[in-house]
Amino acid sequence: MSVKEISERIKQLQEEKNAIILAHYYTRPEVQDVADYLGDSLGLSRMAAKTTARVIVFCGVHFMAETASIISPDKKVLIPARDAGCSLAESITGQDLIEWKAAHPGGIVVCYVNTSADVKANADYCCTSSNATRVVESLPAGRPVLFVPDKNLGAYINKVTGRNMELWHGDCCVHERLPATVLLERLDAFPDATLLLHPEANGSSDDRILHHPRAFIASTAGMIDRARRSSCRRFIVATELETIHELKKNSPDKEFIPALRSTLCGQMKRVTIERVLEALEKEQFEVKVEDSIREKASIPIQRMLDVK
Ligand code: 13P
Ligand code: SF4
Repeated sequence: MSVKEISERIKQLQEEKNAIILAHYYTRPEVQDVADYLGDSLGLSRMAAKTTARVIVFCGVHFMAETASIISPDKKVLIPARDAGCSLAESITGQDLIEWKAAHPGGIVVCYVNTSADVKANADYCCTSSNATRVVESLPAGRPVLFVPDKNLGAYINKVTGRNMELWHGDCCVHERLPATVLLERLDAFPDATLLLHPEANGSSDDRILHHPRAFIASTAGMIDRARRSSCRRFIVATELETIHELKKNSPDKEFIPALRSTLCGQMKRVTIERVLEALEKEQFEVKVEDSIREKASIPIQRMLDVK
């Protein structure tokens, strides 16, 4: 079957089964195109919370589908690629966090959404790259804060908020490839371009980037919005490169230059259009979280959704 035929069959099945397709901006373009809602981690979590569909087909990596299942336990949440993991989510376990907390009594734990349900169940607040700064700013001053698992996002938040959070040493294997040296070299090579940078990037907390007049640091949705509104015609894209699909759709008359050609997330690419169809046909692979963990994990997630 061609991509067009597969996409049409997906749309038919969706209607028959009352299913919604959610996809992250890092998935393959043909998967993005078949989605009912395309978003970043926060937007997707909000959509999972509000949909009335019976089935959610979550085109993303495992922690994303798991988070949707925690938020909407009465929905059937399907992940087309059950082998799609995430280096950040895999950098810490629930047990690791329990031990880290024991070594820092009285600490408030903020966990990035890129974590397993076990980790969230042991955290106080959850956040995404869209609202991490606001979540941390809302915490009482004078209390120690433990941030897991992204050292780059954590260092960026420390710089922006002036807090001194303890950081877990996890990283995104894609954004780790973007140190300040590479970003500065690209800014020099394209003196008329704005740098769009994800805070998970290695260079996001470097002062030369943070205070650079042509650097804009934001979540995926934030970058897309900035490019659309900006009068600038050229952008250096320092994040996962599939984002360019939506950037171009929103701003067809602008130019998007990859900061580095290798920043593609192989885990997200495991979600193929064929797997999306199979997920709907067979209603596979269902993601469920055990009640005792789900109940605890839903508290920090709800706090994340409550922060605007
Ligand atoms: P956002 O979706 O919050 O931009 O995060 C990017 C990411 O790496 C998701 O895995
Ligand atoms: Fe995880 Fe990085 Fe892939 Fe996002 S881009 S899913 S953080 S490995």
